[in-house]
Amino acid sequence: MRFSAYLLLSLVPTVLGTSGGDLDDGLTRRQSSVDSFISTESPIAKAGILANIGPSGAKCQGAKSGVVIAGPSTGNPVDYAFTWTRDSALVYKVLIDQYIQGRDNSLLTGITNWVASGLRLQQVSNPSGTVSSGGLGEPKFNRDETPFTGGWGRPQRDGPALRAITTTAFANYLSKQGNTSYVTNTLWPFIRLDLDYVRDSWNLTGFDLWEEVNASSFFTTAVQHRALREGAKLAAAQGDAARSTAYTTQAGNVLCFLQSYWSSSQKYIISNINGGGGRSGLDANSILTSIHTFDPAAGCEAATFQPCSDVALANHFAVVNSFRGSLYPINSGIPAGSAVAIGRYKEDSYFGGNPWYLTTLATAEQLYDALYQWKKIGSITVTATSLQFFQQFSPSVAVGTYASTSSTYTTLTGAIKTYADGFVAIVQKYIGAGGALAEQFTRANGTPASAPDLTWSYAAALTAFDARAGVVPGSWGAAGLTAPAQCSTNNGGGGGGGGGNTVAITFQETATTVWGENIFLTGSIDALKNWSPNDALALSADSYPVWKITVNVPAGANFQYKFIRKFNGAVTWESDPNRSYTAPGSGSVTLNDSWR
Ligand code: NOJ
Ligand code: NOJ
Repeated sequence: MRFSAYLLLSLVPTVLGTSGGDLDDGLTRRQSSVDSFISTESPIAKAGILANIGPSGAKCQGAKSGVVIAGPSTGNPVDYAFTWTRDSALVYKVLIDQYIQGRDNSLLTGITNWVASGLRLQQVSNPSGTVSSGGLGEPKFNRDETPFTGGWGRPQRDGPALRAITTTAFANYLSKQGNTSYVTNTLWPFIRLDLDYVRDSWNLTGFDLWEEVNASSFFTTAVQHRALREGAKLAAAQGDAARSTAYTTQAGNVLCFLQSYWSSSQKYIISNINGGGGRSGLDANSILTSIHTFDPAAGCEAATFQPCSDVALANHFAVVNSFRGSLYPINSGIPAGSAVAIGRYKEDSYFGGNPWYLTTLATAEQLYDALYQWKKIGSITVTATSLQFFQQFSPSVAVGTYASTSSTYTTLTGAIKTYADGFVAIVQKYIGAGGALAEQFTRANGTPASAPDLTWSYAAALTAFDARAGVVPGSWGAAGLTAPAQCSTNNGGGGGGGGGNTVAITFQETATTVWGENIFLTGSIDALKNWSPNDALALSADSYPVWKITVNVPAGANFQYKFIRKFNGAVTWESDPNRSYTAPGSGSVTLNDSWR
């Protein structure tokens, strides 16, 4: 059966015979419909998560103890019965928060099983490397904890950070309870490995959370920042002053780098930089970032992209708008200022490029988080940056601060609550039979699509519902953080910083060559010799078959490039198209390419 909020809502006035223009009644009806959806769906979502966790989850045969599979489907229509570090960490964050908040003590065994599984997985050598040579960036493993050796977008550097964040929440709770031996002997060594990986590799590119783009990803950078901040405190509590200092230093650098994703002219986050061209950059990546780095003890701070910050609201406006209109037939005809179905990014074509439940829910959750924060602060501030977001709800609103006693505050918060509920109502409208949440619902008619029973979809429902009820996760220390004016990217692992107006880019090209043949680089800017094969820059073969060169290019420069081979005076170019790249505003990066 399919719950149909809109159908019900449009019938109710006729049945009750109320005056059509009574907005308040409409609002109450909408909210109570969402209320009843949430009370029905919450236990379904919780059970949906537990069914996908080994060893005894009802839908995950063959999953080892503590292993969270992304979904039970093993091939038809997609194979999701693997454990992804990202999905697994996000899902266990929900369960750990429930445990910490005293809402479900029965979760404890599963939590410790998940930690034990994570400790084993960290040690599994895999195509990304070993535990000490990059293996922690491996995105997914088979459900029996053996490595997945097929081709994949690897590494993905958000996984270790998310796992550290989740485990740190548990460690902090247990420390407060006085269970220090498990924290010191088991959790800290687990967390420390993930954090060392983040410390040493945050300034390298990798695949984004959607596993498609090899670049720098806003979500990844933001969760890395959070992980290092929390890790620095934990390290200090564990008496590891050296790590505490190193994590703090790198957290400052990461926070600095985080600022470079913001486009002040376009007023939104470019979700993938240093690669990933050919897209607008508008991506639910950034909305997910706002909810997963929400700190209820912070204010509406822009540096950490808090849900109620002007930058995050402007970005919300732009990302939601990118899904309006005819992109998805199910969204056509929905007016500006009303909720629409939200996908990953508008150019998406995976499984037909559809809206997703978890991104639609996250779009609601950011607003619930913001409402929580405004209530706590006692006012709403509208800036030039966020003005357009607020004008959706009150066209005449002006830049300024509105106290909770003002009518503007009441109007805005009421309308934003209704707007947020609209996203939940869309999930309700297109939910699967029996409240099932797949990964996607089709753009054409909203039928559930791609992976059925996606664990992450269920987790996303629970966190959105909680946020709506004002039940929010713990603080992580975002309050008062500001990005340093000067950014340094020296991560201690070599590479050096950009400094000044240039950015150091290390080009790495994997190419097998014959004796006497060499690899060169040229491209569209002066620093790359303006497409001149004669002046092209020679790469070093010290790490053959990886050829390398580090070039300083102007910060922010957008350029194209190609590698060429020279052998006995003959020049061979890589095949088309040209590679393209936009240098960050600061920092240093490594680009990994293979001869083509
Ligand atoms: C599978 C990934 O999980 C998905 O995110 C991606 O869109 C497709 N592969 C296509 O690359
Ligand atoms: C594809 C999604 O793009 C990715 O984010 C996720 O980790 C996997 N599916 C597994 O759910």
